Amino acid sequence: LAVAVFMGGRSVEHPVSCTSGTGVADALTEVGHEVHRIGITREGAWVLLDKEHSRLVISDGVMPEVTLDSGTPVRLSTDPAGPRLIDAQGRSVGHVDVAFPALHGPWGEDGTIQGLFEMASLPYVGSGVLSSSLCMDKGFTKRILAAHSVNQGPYLAIGAHEEVDLDAVAQQLGFPLFLKPARAGSSLGISRVTSKDGLPDAIAKARAVDDKLVLESGFEGVREVEVGVLERFDGGLDISYPLEVLEKGAEGWFDFDAKYLGSPEPFNLRPDFPEGVAEELQEMARTVFRALDCRHFARIDGFLAQDGSVYLNEINTVPGLTPMSGVPQAFSKLGFAYTEIIDRLVRLAAR
Ligand code: DAL
Ligand code: MG
Repeated sequence: LAVAVFMGGRSVEHPVSCTSGTGVADALTEVGHEVHRIGITREGAWVLLDKEHSRLVISDGVMPEVTLDSGTPVRLSTDPAGPRLIDAQGRSVGHVDVAFPALHGPWGEDGTIQGLFEMASLPYVGSGVLSSSLCMDKGFTKRILAAHSVNQGPYLAIGAHEEVDLDAVAQQLGFPLFLKPARAGSSLGISRVTSKDGLPDAIAKARAVDDKLVLESGFEGVREVEVGVLERFDGGLDISYPLEVLEKGAEGWFDFDAKYLGSPEPFNLRPDFPEGVAEELQEMARTVFRALDCRHFARIDGFLAQDGSVYLNEINTVPGLTPMSGVPQAFSKLGFAYTEIIDRLVRLAAR
């Protein structure tokens, strides 16, 4: 198949996406697909990455970046000849069978580029427009899942122009709490807040990423878990054993630095859980995937509280896709090679 792999992009997760996209493009190349590596700059320009810039990864703490110098301008043609990439002179660079948006965060994981692919009749990997939009917005996600009786901790969703009532927050959620931009990822813009005095700075930090906010009660002593979901060709779902996040950042939670600058093996792939907990987490992942109408794959993140109860944290419709990321790692325990997972995704999309 001819696959256009998109990476970088306009969101704050740009460097993470470069790393995911490079892993995906390498894997697809390895199994024999024709791969076009398309970098999207922070401003939104598309470039066909040249050889010298074709492997953009976070390495030794240095963040990769797509710039206009990383390749040549390219765009998607939607003319009747079918989805093709064309250069600035209008010449065809090649046709495309499947788009693989290895993009995290807004303008990539939120239904926007998915809408562009729909308009171009270009099959693409991952969830559709509505599902992507819903899952990107932590406030909307929670409201839908509440209707499906998915266990979630106490939270408040704050609108773009809404002031945060600090007293109400303290009263309804208590401390510690996690204050998050509603639409972001990789923990960027998130703060763990331990008192009312800490709220204004945390609000400013989150609002630098997104005007919409979500505040969640923090559970003391929780275990953080991640479940991978991968669709089968018969429409069924392969669901991974829940892996446990072991790596913690300076404040004791899985922040950006812990995710990308810490241990190369941040997970326990075979954690010991109390009886029935792994199955409960897997069932929650299945319910969430179906309730939010996800497609092809997703990673469902949850918490296991000290009393043994299980809570939803969030859904990622384009989870990190480096070979060391949660979904590939979780499935490796079930015997899936990284290349096999990535290959399955483009074949699911091309059906
Ligand atoms: N948003 C990051 C990439 C993740 O969920 O893995
Ligand atoms: Mg996320």
